[in-house]
Amino acid sequence: MSTATAVQKNFLSDRINRIEVSATMAITAEALRLKAQGIDLADFGAGEPHFSTPEHIKAAAIDAIQKNFTRYTAVAGIPEVRKAIVERHAADFGSNYTPDECVFTTGGKLALFNAIQVLVDHGDEVVLPVPYWVSFKDIIQYAGGKVVIVEGQEQENFRITAKMIEAAITPRTKAIILNTPSNPSGAVVSPADLEAIVRLAHAKGIYLLLDECYVYLQYTGALVSGASFTDCKEHIVVLGSLSKTYAMTGWRAGFALGPKQIISAMSKLQSQSTSNTASFVQRASIAALNGPQQCVAEMRADYLKLRDRTLAGLKTIPGITCTVPEGAFYVYPNVSAFFGKSGIKSAADVASRLLSDAHVVVVPGEPFGTSEHIRISYAVSHETVDEGVSRMKEFFAKLG
Ligand SMILES: Cc1ncc(COP(=O)(O)O)c(C=O)c1O
Repeated sequence: MSTATAVQKNFLSDRINRIEVSATMAITAEALRLKAQGIDLADFGAGEPHFSTPEHIKAAAIDAIQKNFTRYTAVAGIPEVRKAIVERHAADFGSNYTPDECVFTTGGKLALFNAIQVLVDHGDEVVLPVPYWVSFKDIIQYAGGKVVIVEGQEQENFRITAKMIEAAITPRTKAIILNTPSNPSGAVVSPADLEAIVRLAHAKGIYLLLDECYVYLQYTGALVSGASFTDCKEHIVVLGSLSKTYAMTGWRAGFALGPKQIISAMSKLQSQSTSNTASFVQRASIAALNGPQQCVAEMRADYLKLRDRTLAGLKTIPGITCTVPEGAFYVYPNVSAFFGKSGIKSAADVASRLLSDAHVVVVPGEPFGTSEHIRISYAVSHETVDEGVSRMKEFFAKLG
């Protein structure tokens, strides 16, 4: 390290030096740079819907602006948006939250960040299944928490069970993070295991942080939430997002549901940082949550077709193996068969060569906690799937 870099590092706080820039954001930035040069990319990098936000949601935001609903609101969100959130969750999953057990946040990521900040102290352990969404680890470490890994098994479709979680619990465990369906593997925790994990956490007095970002994007079985087990709600915090459900990634609309004390601590923290989420985004979110849900079903149906198209395409590439994801909009193929070929040593090398040689954007597995995979987001057009698969096929064939 040069002296200048060492001085700069010391100048910054310990906590900021404990974390890295979000890997998916770094890939998105590189893809944007190449696109700006006019390069035609098959872009499977960003984890966001290719759909536009439905018209009735956009109209509600425009109407709010035109009616000058553009001032500060209550920090935790206007009562109507919190009511819409708890009612939607109750109708879909049988939970029983009140509006004061809900805080509206600037994206689901902030709900997670604030929940960890108010619950996790230095040295507290947080159980985290692998592969994990890139931000979990850094957000825990930023709070001073210790990440305790639970290794998902590829041969078991990366499915996490209650037994696996139980084995990771120690007297220092403060929280468990469960993201089902999972980013990046698309794995879904079975309803029986979900109930067992909820009850385990409740019995042991450990907080279960349920990341439900993809809860509506599940392709097998009924949609389930751990918050349906209302007798355990004392130890459950639901982290929700409108980003993927309603194709609203740029709007920054998320929420948390949980015990009053935790929710008011999160609101207190929010009162000293972002304050309220944009006023008109709150109105648009009410339209999303209270309006027709047909758009959600239509998008889910298309994702399922895209998943199957992507899996079928990958099957035609010798050397690639892939679990069958049951939710979210990612596939997580194993590319280790190509390690040792043409200078490639890692998943990061595969991703970087796919970008430079084939103009295909994927995210390498390392930041998700595994070393042999790449993440492909199939929230793209059917044409992009076909084009991307054909470029990948050619690229991997050349590696021999
Ligand atoms: C698992 C998971 N949780 C939370 C989020 C946060 O979403 P947002 O902040 O857009 O609501 C994401 C976004 O990619 C995610 O993949």
